[in-house]
Amino acid sequence: MSVTSLSRTFTLGDRTVKRLGYGAMQLAGPGVFGPPKDRDAALAVLREAVARGVDHIDTSDFYGPHVTNQIIREALHPYPNDLVIVTKISARRGADGSWIPAMSPAELTQAVHDNLRNLGLDVLDIVNLRSMYDVHGPAEGSIEAPLTVLAELQRKGLVRHIGLSNVTPTQIAEGRRLCEIVCVQNHYNVAHRSDDALIDDLARAGIAYVPYFPLGGFQPLQSSILSDVAARLGATPMQVALAWLLRRAPNILLIPGTSSVAHLRENLAAAELDLPDDVAKELDNVASLASA
Ligand SMILES: NC(=O)c1ccc[n+]([C@@H]2O[C@H](COP(=O)([O-])OP(=O)(O)OC[C@H]3O[C@@H](n4cnc5c(N)ncnc54)[C@H](OP(=O)(O)O)[C@@H]3O)[C@@H](O)[C@H]2O)c1
Repeated sequence: MSVTSLSRTFTLGDRTVKRLGYGAMQLAGPGVFGPPKDRDAALAVLREAVARGVDHIDTSDFYGPHVTNQIIREALHPYPNDLVIVTKISARRGADGSWIPAMSPAELTQAVHDNLRNLGLDVLDIVNLRSMYDVHGPAEGSIEAPLTVLAELQRKGLVRHIGLSNVTPTQIAEGRRLCEIVCVQNHYNVAHRSDDALIDDLARAGIAYVPYFPLGGFQPLQSSILSDVAARLGATPMQVALAWLLRRAPNILLIPGTSSVAHLRENLAAAELDLPDDVAKELDNVASLASA
């Protein structure tokens, strides 16, 4: 199997998107708080992404807060017909930049309206409910109450599709009993593979899995295996990490984040990188070394 023999697209909600998209979180200021150092550079990254065929952008109104969505709107509105913008709700930012759960009906409703206003949309394509029982990773707890609020906003026509983020398999099962779930967004990459079984289950159910921190997030991936493989293939370690994810499962959609046009181009080129079977096996060792 190789990247080029895998499908380059997957269904997200009622749309078909390319498996390599873009995550906009890096466009806010340091710590995802406040404005970026260089607003024109942020606008340029978004315009370059769409010019290069990106049709799936991930965002949230709590990036900045508000800043990232306002930059997306300034760069891209009116949006191309084929662009799917996915946002997420259920947190707000403290004055110090902290991430505070915001899962009451009033806060969730406000968040949907904030996203609509700042993105300049009448309806949001996909809204992920991000579980906030633990800000840093999935933790058990019922999501019925907030998901019921989001499903009601969907019934009112403000949201087309619903996804979940930072969730456990139990929460996904609970969510699927309440409404259709089209995607799951959790922390996953070549070195962090807690969701291996979940990804395969979601693939069987036709649900997209969208790993956040595909390149390691705030601590970008560093591994001698990645570097060695990259040198042999004439690629960069980040491209190898993305190609490994594309090969990992057909329902994986990528949203690598960057504030740099050069990194964006490098990341999008990973769609063309073929990983032979033996190389993919070698890369499996990155996770075992990371957890050792
Ligand atoms: N649901 C959630 O809870 C959640 C949490 C976090 C993120 N997200 C979403 O997931 C998306 C992806 O996550 P992320 O942006 O945090 O992390 P990421 O994609 O794993 O990595 C981003 C980091 O890698 C660097 N980078 C990107 N391309 C590079 C390249 N080719 N070479 C070297 N460095 C490179 C970026 O710096 P430069 O800017 O310098 O390129 C940035 O520091 C976000 O944008 C956001 O939309 C969701």
